[in-house]
Amino acid sequence: MRNTSTPQPPKRYTVTAALPYANGPLHIGHLAGAHLPADIYVRYLRSQHKDVLFISGSDEHGVPIAIRAAEASATPRQIADRYHRLNQASLHHMGIHFDVFTRTSSQAHRRNATEFFEELHRKGIFEKRSSAQYYDGIKQQFLADRYIRGRCPHCAHEDAYGDQCESCGTSLEATELLEPRSSLSNTPPELRETTHWYLPLNRYAEWLRTWLLEEQADWKPNVRAQCKAWLDQGLRPRAITRDLDWGVPVPLKEAKNKVLYVWFEAPIGYITATQEWAEKHHKNWKDYWSSPTTRLVHFIGKDNIVFHCIIFPTLLKAHGNFILPSNVPANDFLNLEGRKISTSRGWAVWVDDYLASFPNQQDALRYVLCANGPENRDSDFSWRDFQARNNNELVAVLGNFVHRVLTLIQKHYGGIVPEANPPGPAETALSDQVKQSRVFVGRALDQYRFKEALQEVMQVARSANKYLTEKSPWTLLKTDKVQAGGVLCAALQLMAHLAALLSPFLPFSTEKMYKMLCIDALPWTPDEGVQLVPSGTQLPVPERLFVYIPDDLIAHQRSKLSIQR
Ligand code: 2FM
Ligand code: ZN
Repeated sequence: MRNTSTPQPPKRYTVTAALPYANGPLHIGHLAGAHLPADIYVRYLRSQHKDVLFISGSDEHGVPIAIRAAEASATPRQIADRYHRLNQASLHHMGIHFDVFTRTSSQAHRRNATEFFEELHRKGIFEKRSSAQYYDGIKQQFLADRYIRGRCPHCAHEDAYGDQCESCGTSLEATELLEPRSSLSNTPPELRETTHWYLPLNRYAEWLRTWLLEEQADWKPNVRAQCKAWLDQGLRPRAITRDLDWGVPVPLKEAKNKVLYVWFEAPIGYITATQEWAEKHHKNWKDYWSSPTTRLVHFIGKDNIVFHCIIFPTLLKAHGNFILPSNVPANDFLNLEGRKISTSRGWAVWVDDYLASFPNQQDALRYVLCANGPENRDSDFSWRDFQARNNNELVAVLGNFVHRVLTLIQKHYGGIVPEANPPGPAETALSDQVKQSRVFVGRALDQYRFKEALQEVMQVARSANKYLTEKSPWTLLKTDKVQAGGVLCAALQLMAHLAALLSPFLPFSTEKMYKMLCIDALPWTPDEGVQLVPSGTQLPVPERLFVYIPDDLIAHQRSKLSIQR
């Protein structure tokens, strides 16, 4: 059974995170929009021992890379090589570990995208059409929309692009621009006839309306709203080829100097990645793309919604051998200090720069980007908020709890886990809270509500801290060392549960917690009725989980904004 959304219990998950363009370093907007929620989701699934394939990679074709190459007097290949390596490393160091981080410029991808096109072409899906497009007579090439600048017909902004005016945000056709000029030669372009292959989205409109608006009632409201807006506008055939020299060549004799549109082939990169992984691990890639018991989930930012909810599903449907996405939990945008993140203006926090400036503090950024993620609306990252959340929540609540318990055990019990006390009302209430929270957090993560999930886990950390303060083992120690030991033992078990709950969000800290507790990583639902950290275990000397961030460090980060890279 193919191309159906008949619900069946999932046997496996194919989880994708948008392939970032290899034309610049990753910034926190990429993380908050797609890569971090995807990683949290995958870690959560894996902690339940689900079969999950997690993929991403570099989107190495298209105009953005060609433009960056021209600016840097380099070849597109050199640019793609550089940023592929950098971005792959940045994601890995942030704890976001893909099974495959592919490249769309690879031979394997070229072959795969070519075959996909050929199959659809053989089936007669595409329409061939001629149209007049801007051509730069001096550079002797057709111009991609991004290469054309001119006055916006809506707001009169002088420097709008051929596909969009960045001043008023309107999507444009290049031919709508007033006084157009080529940004390659700075001369007015001429209109010339050219031929392209089109995907007739209009023919799929009715099917898309039913599939998206009726059958996907559980998708996020922001995603459904954007899909509905696209459908209400009316879908038109969309060109899936371009006159460019950087990309996957159109595999037709009559299509000289034409490549597949980057948005046609980039999502096919998810399939290429799966094939690479399957070959290496002796698996059947089709299980992850064709079986109705596989859930395909795409994590993306909101500017990618039309491509993942309308165009790519139409391609998959037209092909016929693939499942369709089960969900596309797209996020809105993350702003920075009240302004839109802009790579070209240098208004960004780069992931590689963060990693260098805040060594071993990946979880602080993961925490803040999740707690303040643009899940349902745009959100704002500010360095002050980052500092406050780190100092007041991670250090003062979670870190404080862990540190107090472990240092007391080290100091007064030689690091040996004391015996448990029979549980009293406080301990029973806490263990009930843990159980209820686990259900709540699980449900929230199943529904892609990451912020709420993290908030709930932090409530458990607050209760743990409160328990410790109320029981005051440091006072009790003076009169009843056994009772005090029982409190600390209960606190340790709680710490283990907290580590399991935190593991999708803060993997570096939970790993440290497990190490300091001398236990292996716990599954999402740890065994009941057993001591997770057995009495008598010799614990190592504890280390701090989080570091206090002083004002001057934040002032320095703020001062770096708007420096061009
Ligand atoms: O918006 C972007 O950065 C695109 N490179 C995302 C592509 S996702 C996928 F389809 F490849
Ligand atoms: Zn405008």
